[in-house]
Parts: sequence; C-alpha cells; structure tokens
Amino acid sequence: GKLTIVGAGAVGTSAAHWALAKSVAKEVVLIDVVDGLPQGKALDCAQSSPIEGYSGHIKGTNDYEDTKNSDCVIITAGLARKPGMTREDLLEKNVQIVKTVTQNIVEHSPEAILIVVTNPIDAMVYTAFKVSGFPKQRVVGMAGVLDSARYRYFIAQELGVSPNDVSALVMGIHGDNMLPLTRLASVGGVPVEALIPKDKLNEIVKRTQNGGGEIVGLLKSGSAFTTPGLAAIEMAEAILKDQKRVLPCAAYLEGEFGIDGVFLGVPVVLGRNGVERILEFPLTPEEKDALNLSVEAVKRQVESIHG
Ligand code: NAI
Repeated sequence: GKLTIVGAGAVGTSAAHWALAKSVAKEVVLIDVVDGLPQGKALDCAQSSPIEGYSGHIKGTNDYEDTKNSDCVIITAGLARKPGMTREDLLEKNVQIVKTVTQNIVEHSPEAILIVVTNPIDAMVYTAFKVSGFPKQRVVGMAGVLDSARYRYFIAQELGVSPNDVSALVMGIHGDNMLPLTRLASVGGVPVEALIPKDKLNEIVKRTQNGGGEIVGLLKSGSAFTTPGLAAIEMAEAILKDQKRVLPCAAYLEGEFGIDGVFLGVPVVLGRNGVERILEFPLTPEEKDALNLSVEAVKRQVESIHG
C-alpha cells in the first residue's frame, strides 16, 4: 500500500521511521510546507535501510501530486505544545492547518483512510471529518493507542513485569479528563486491581492522564514524538494490512456508549475499511460520569470552531 505522512516535524518523522522499519507500506511519502525539511528527513530515514535491511521506499516532498492515491494518510501537521500550554491552546492555529491539509489530501487521495494526530485531537479529527466529506469509517484519531501504552507501561513498571503482557484501555478525550479504566486492566489475564493497591493505582491513572504533560515539562521545548509516531503507525499498519486490530481510537459516535455526534476514544476494530466496528460494552455509572466529562470538553472545543 501507499502511506502519506503530512508534517515532517517530530511526530511525522518518527512515524516515517517506524513505517519503514516495520515495513508497513511499500511506499511512504513525507510531505511538509517547509522546503527541504521532508526531503532531508526522508533521506535520513532511507539511509537506515542498509543497516536494518528493509526495502520500503520513502519520498520527501512539498508537492501533493506525490501523495496521489494514498491508501492511508497520517496528519501530524500543526503546532505542538510548549510548557504551560494545554492542547486546547493549539486549537485556533491548528484548525486552519488541518482544514488546508485535508482539502489537499481529499483532492489527491479520495479513497484514503485518514488518521489525524494533530492536537487537540478529538476536535481536529472532527474538522478533518467535516472538511473531507468522507464516511465516518474513513476518519479516525490517534490518542488512545498512545495513552494506553503509557498506562500499560506504568502498570508494568509498578509490577515489574513485561509491558507487553499488560492489557489496558484508555477511553475518552486526549486530555486531563481521559478515562484509564482500572476495572478492565489486566496482566496475563489477572486483574490489575487485585495486584496493585487502590492508592497506587490511582496515582498511575493520574500519571497517565498527565502523560504528555510530564514529557513536555521535562523536555522544556517540544513534546513527545517517538511513541506518538509509533502509535500512529500501529493504526496505519492495521489498516494497510487489514489486520482487524482492536485498538482504542477516536471514532465518530452515533449513539454508542450513549454518546452522539462527537469523536471520542473508544475501542474499535481497525482494518482495510478503517473503523470497521466500535466495540461497545456496558460501563459502570462512575465510568459513565467520567466519560461524560470528556464529552463535554470535546463538545466545547468543537463548538468553538464549528459553531
Ligand atoms: P512539529 O512542530 O515538530 O511538527 C509539525 C510540522 O507540521 C512542522 O514541520 C510544520 O512545518 C508542519 N506543518 C505546519 N503546517 C503545515 C501544513 N499546512 N502542511 C504540512 N505541514 C505543515 O510538531 P510535532 O511534535 O511533530 O507535533 C505535531 C502535532 O501532533 C501537534 O499538534 C502535536 O500536539 C500533535 N501530537 C498529538 C499526539 C496525539 O496523541 N494525538 C501526540 C503527540 C503530538
């Protein structure tokens, strides 16, 4: 398949690197508005192929012609957070960028599946959905894979076990109100609630909710990019290889979980058709209340853009 990554910044370059290393697409295109940037980043990525031994091709470009007929497009174009900024602070600038990018992509790749990464993600994916006119199955946001990876990592650290054996789900908005579910977190099939004391588990939940902020604070300039890039590629791989992976993604909800008309992080089945199914399940009253905080926050963001 053909994968386009829009934005050759930190996240876009990480995504390009993982896409090549994991051989998710025959052809990878990295596009940015800055002249030379995607070309240089692409060349740097390509030069790792003799060492790692993959054969995928990558092209850096400023011209949307090169993105023509992509099967999957990852949108990372836009500003990232600086210390003291919330994801909401990015809204005004990034909505314009995401609109322009989406129009260009739709014109050149009318059949593509869009993965939106630009923050604030739950509002930006709605913008891409509206501007593209694509069916809801073909527009999806990346956040849950990253947030769940952080959650799983922290749980694994606490238990001293392989992170790979930790299964856990983060639902809702990509922000302070995200919902890392404790009830469903497990390690090798054993409930995490039986292994980690409640206080400690609550700390892990809080740390997960502030997972991006913790890194922004440490870096002092820029925000997380290595795992965000990989998380986007895990989604792209599921789509390009029709893997039917079950991954938490921002999907357009029409009544699922009692939520209507917004994109929000929920477990979905990702395959060649994009969001092939939303895996709905009963939530406890407390979980519902927590998820409603996400819904309200996302609705506020979307209303401030689209009225
Ligand atoms: P960055 O500043 O390193 O890169 C952004 C790139 O977008 C720059 O190279 C810039 O030239 C490019 N760009 C700007 N306008 C463009 C346009 N119209 N067309 C094409 N390219 C354009 O930022 P970084 O760190 O790569 O982050 C990118 C976005 O991803 C940010 O909004 C950030 O908040 C978000 N993000 C989202 C995550 C998530 O979980 N959803 C996780 C990490 C970052």
